[in-house]
Amino acid sequence: MPVEYKNIVPWGRSFREYVDMFHLSDEDLDRTIPGCGDGPASFNCEMTRQGNSVISVDPIYNFDRDAIKKRIDEIYVEVLEQTRANRDKFVWENISSVEELGGIRMESMKLFLDDFECGKQQGRYVAGELPELPFKGDSFDMVLVSHLLFLYSEQLSLEFHLRAIDELLRVAGEVRIFPLLDLNSRRSLHVDEVIDYVAEKGYLVREEKVKYEFQKGGNRMLRVVRS
Ligand SMILES: C[S@@+](CC[C@H](N)C(=O)[O-])C[C@H]1O[C@@H](n2cnc3c(N)ncnc32)[C@H](O)[C@@H]1O
Repeated sequence: MPVEYKNIVPWGRSFREYVDMFHLSDEDLDRTIPGCGDGPASFNCEMTRQGNSVISVDPIYNFDRDAIKKRIDEIYVEVLEQTRANRDKFVWENISSVEELGGIRMESMKLFLDDFECGKQQGRYVAGELPELPFKGDSFDMVLVSHLLFLYSEQLSLEFHLRAIDELLRVAGEVRIFPLLDLNSRRSLHVDEVIDYVAEKGYLVREEKVKYEFQKGGNRMLRVVRS
């Protein structure tokens, strides 16, 4: 049975996972960073606690805490079931079981939920979505996109990906995207076309190996630099 979600699910990873997925250095963490599609990840909460600044943008921030929590609780069982049925597509080293995965993700999402209302008031959680972000051009140094583009290649067309890349490069000089695989751990059909598209525009584009790997073979990020 393939991994299949009708919609893009809110599912949250931690600060440590973001650091490993995007190969973030201490210098990177000092840059102005938006996380696009951060959903219920605890990256924003943990960055803020460490004194770093980050803005997360996601359509689920249109909802209040309770509505987001309800949605997380609804999809939690489904995500664990799909992961269990596709156990062979994942690397069970740092996380040793589906149950442990559930616990770790819920911990991150709880950090997010407890931070959400306050962070929204502070302007750290902004409702918005690709392909049109609610930011002025060149607002940030580097934008991170985790588990949205490429992963949801069936739900999001190539045209959407190209518009999204243009938009991300409008608001930031550098874009990092992870992973390059789709939900079934195959290289996304859009990756090479996106690489050709940005290379033709004269941007620096590079696939980089990172030390994070949970989906088997999912240990590469795409880095695109405009300036
Ligand atoms: C699988 S979650 C990933 C959350 C987080 N980035 C992480 O890696 O833990 C995908 C997120 O993308 C958000 N999303 C869906 N469509 C989007 C769009 N067009 N623009 C920005 N975010 C979107 C969803 O609301 C969801 O929170």
